[in-house]
Formats: sequence, structure tokens, C-alpha cells
Amino acid sequence: MSEGAAKKGERPRKFQAIRGTRDLLPPDTALWNRVEQTAHEVFSTYGFGEIRPPIFEPTELFARAVGGETDIVSKEMYTFLVSDLDQLIGWRGYISNVREIQSANALEVYEAALSYLALQLQKAVMSGELPDEARNQATIAKLNRHGAQVREIFVRWKESGQLENRDELDRLVDDAATTAAAICVGDEISLRPEATASVCRAYIEHNMQQLPQPVKLYYMGPMFRRERPQKGRYRQFYQIGAEVLEAVRPDVLELFKPGVQRDIKAQKELAKDAAIDAELIEMLMTFFAKCGLQGAELDINSIGHSAPPVDGKNVCRRAYVGKLKAELEKVKDQLGADSQRRIETNPLRVLDSKLEHEQPIIEKLPRIADHLCDECKTHYASVKRELDLRGVAYRENWRLVRGLDYYMRTTFEITARGLGSQNAVCGGGRYDGLVELLGGPPTKGIGFAIGEDRLILSLQESGKSPAAHGRDVYIAWMGQNAYATAIRAAKILRSASLSVELPPVEQKFGKALERASKLNSRFALILGDNEVQSGEWTLKTLADGSQQKLSEPALLEYLRKP
Ligand code: HAM
Repeated sequence: MSEGAAKKGERPRKFQAIRGTRDLLPPDTALWNRVEQTAHEVFSTYGFGEIRPPIFEPTELFARAVGGETDIVSKEMYTFLVSDLDQLIGWRGYISNVREIQSANALEVYEAALSYLALQLQKAVMSGELPDEARNQATIAKLNRHGAQVREIFVRWKESGQLENRDELDRLVDDAATTAAAICVGDEISLRPEATASVCRAYIEHNMQQLPQPVKLYYMGPMFRRERPQKGRYRQFYQIGAEVLEAVRPDVLELFKPGVQRDIKAQKELAKDAAIDAELIEMLMTFFAKCGLQGAELDINSIGHSAPPVDGKNVCRRAYVGKLKAELEKVKDQLGADSQRRIETNPLRVLDSKLEHEQPIIEKLPRIADHLCDECKTHYASVKRELDLRGVAYRENWRLVRGLDYYMRTTFEITARGLGSQNAVCGGGRYDGLVELLGGPPTKGIGFAIGEDRLILSLQESGKSPAAHGRDVYIAWMGQNAYATAIRAAKILRSASLSVELPPVEQKFGKALERASKLNSRFALILGDNEVQSGEWTLKTLADGSQQKLSEPALLEYLRKP
């Protein structure tokens, strides 16, 4: 019996989807497919190609791109250690968890564990599973030294019957725990909480800067965040996203060097970026309209200059954040615990607060629009002009700062109806400099991600659910001769893309018709001896009960009619 199997007399465990995850089932999945198909169609008309990055990546990729201080990275990622060094991991875990040793016998076991840990580490280095570098060699030497000292303490404890140097032993145990915990036994990987970091990683890995620029990519698939589940918020959720990446040419880099007078070429470059931003947003709104999303509202903002291609300093944003922080310090006592913490970690995020009592305080804080540098102002004005030109309606929202670190200049969010408090159905923004931060060439970027679960919820709330999954034709057959014809008929109809239910066993006609209507079939094809002999098949329309006799070709023609 396998380990998890129920013992005799015990009820077997009832498995359920893990909290925050769920099964997507028919007929809902038909709506999911329709939405995804619409994305494929709309995005390809704007020149985007699909990318399918892996679902897990090194944790460090997300930490660096999304930001180590963000909620996503600091508390919501599903992270694993990937390593084949099970023995080493086991001994490392043991030594790093021992805090105090109570008896001579326990000390003997501890000493053995120390030498096993040193031995396993040495084996891993010798076999090449871990790098033969100074750090690992020093750790091996240290563990062996600790082992020898522990051995001495043990011998004296055994001889005298008492522990004379408790402090020394505690210090050794403490030090060994720290040393063991620091042994690097493999890569930490995380399930992706979002896909922009992966797309940038792929852009660098596949040298996409050598392709015609900009490179336009879209993706769809599951993302993972350990958030508190509620309506519209899941731990496995789905995003449909798109990214535009553009390598910055050296002559463009020159235009924006500090101290260089911004000329007409620089203005044109900013206008080009704005046009890219606006076209991406236009594509997004077109997609939502094609899906039939109702009450979609677009909020936009500019959060200033964060990563100019040349020096990577937070130019106008840094100055603004400094001012904001100073003002927040003055009202600190009136803010809640979360906002107080954010004054230190990320003051911009205070603007995101939904706490009612904080709203009048936030309204009085300095606004970024009043602190943008000339370049950011020009860019933001161009984005708005470009959106007007395209007939895209928007609302300016100075508090839209977004929860990921990589944004600069344009940020935007779309909210939709029927979603309660989790009403953001899409978020995005510009992230020039992110590719560089991940080790790539100077590159500009902008993108968005749609929360597909929320989009579907909103469509369903507005009555866009597809009808229950039905069949075009139910084949009611009787007799072995008719069965062979039924199999052939099913094949022909399916190859004409009709959905067909062929019962695997003979059924009385009355029973067959009952099942046909239960399955929501449009027609029943009745095949008995008479039909087989005459070659004229009986087709019953279930909605009105009418019947007609049709030859095989006539039947196909009839069913294909819309
Ligand atoms: P985000 O705002 O973190 O941005 O997520 C985008 C959208 O994903 C949200 O507006 C929401 O609809 C949906 N979403 C997020 N978390 C959950 C959840 N736990 N359950 C259900 N839906 C959720 C990003 O992920 C960025 N990568 C967007 C981006 C792409 N920016 C530039 N390029």
C-alpha cells in the first residue's frame, strides 16, 4: 500500500485544489479561449509575436527586476532550492538549526554531524558539483577546526562528568550554525510572479537587440503570488501581457548625456517613445473593446525620470521622492502602520493607500506632475496628445504609482465593472533601463499585463458567459449495421468541424433522444436498419421536433449552413 493510501476502515482523504488555486471548467473555459484567441488576433495586427518563457526563473531575476523591497518579492513568491546535494542539504540543515547542547552524548552526535557536513562539502567540491573556490575551501577548513575543538570539549566532559566551558561550546555551536547556513548548495528559483522580468531576460539571452527594433512580444499564462485569496485575487492567476523593447542606439545615448543641450533630435526621440506608449495603450483598449468589456476606464500618470539610458540615476523622481518623504515625516503620526513603514522603504507607495482616514492627508501631499523635469514633461504631454489623436479616453491620476520598482515616466491602469475591491484589470508602464539592470545593453521598454481572471469575471458579470457547452449532433443508432454507419457518419461530421456525440453502446431511441437534449444538442441523427438500407438518414431538429430524411451529402450541406 502506498504511503498516502487510506488504512482499512479509514475514509480516504478528499483532495481539493490548494487555497488560492482553482479549476477552470467548461463552459467557462470557452470564454477563456475566446478571450485568448482575441488577444492573438488583435496583438498580431499590431505586429506582436508570441513568447512563451518558462514558469520558473532564478529568484534573483525577480528580486533585481521587480525590486527586493516590493510586496511581491519580499513576501509573495513561491521559492524553492534546487539542488542534487541532498546529503549536504540535510547536514547543513541539522548544524544550522542546533542552538544548545544539553549532554555529552548529544555533543558526540553533534561532532559526528559536523564532520559529515565537512565531508559532504568536500565531496561536492571534488566532484565538481560545487565550485572549487576559496570560500568553500575556507568553510571546509573551518568546519574541521570546529570539529576538533568540539571533540576536545567532549573528551573533557566525558572524563570529568561535567561541562566546564559552556560559553566556549555555545560560541562554537553558534558560529558553526552561521557557517553552515551560508553554504551555497544550489540555485534558488521562484515561480514567476509576473513575466516582464522573463521577457527582458529572454531579450538579452537571445541577443534580440540585433533584430529590427523595437521588438514587440506578447505572452499569456499562469503567474504565482502568495497573496490573501479573495474575489479576483488568486495565488495562481493568469495574465495576458505585451512588451515593447527597443535597444538605444549610441547616437541616441549621446543626445541625453548630462550637460548636452537637448536639441530637436532629442525632442523627436521623446515624441517617438510617446507614440509607442500610446499605440500600446490603443492596442489594449481595442482588445478590451473586442472582448466586450464594459465600463473600462483608463488611468494614466507619469512618475518621472528614473533610469535615463546613460547614468541610471533617478533624476526628477529622486528629487520628488525626497520632497514627498520629508512631507510624510511631518504627518507620520497620523498615518497607519503600513504607510509609516513605507515612508522608509518606498514613500511613493503611500500614495496607493486605500485607508479612509489617510485620504485627506494624501490629497495635500506634493504631486509629481509639479516636479517633472523638462524631458518627462515633454514626454508626458506627448503621450496625452498621442492618446487624443487615437481617440483613447483617459483620466489623469497623480496617485497611480504601481507596486513594482522598474517603472519610469508612463504608468497606467485599467479598471472595470463588477470586480469589487480588486477592480484593476490591467496595469503597465514604461521601464527604460530595466534590461540594462539585468545585464543587457541600454534598452527602452514599455508593457502591460492584463489580469485574465478579472477580465473573465467582469465579462461574466455583464452577461457575456457562453451558453452551456452543447453538441451539434447526437447520433442515435440501433443495431450493428447502423453502428458501422454511425462511426463513419461521426467521422465525416467531425471533419466538417461539427461537434458530435456518438454513444458507445446501443440505446433505445427514446432514451437516446432524452440524452441528446440533456447534452444540449441541436440535432439528433437517427440511424436504424431502415436508414442504413435506404441510404436516407433521419435528422431530427430538437428545438421544434421536426424531422427530415436526407442523403449523406445533403445532410452535410444542411448542417454546414449557419
Ligand atoms: P501587476 O499590476 O502586478 O503588473 O499585475 C497586472 C494585473 O495582473 C493586475 O492589474 C491584475 O489584474 C492582475 N493580478 C495581479 N495579481 C493578481 C492576483 N493575485 N490574482 C488575480 N489577478 C492578479 C505586472 O504584473 C507587470 N508585469 C505588468 C507590466 C508588464 N508592466 C510592464 N509590462
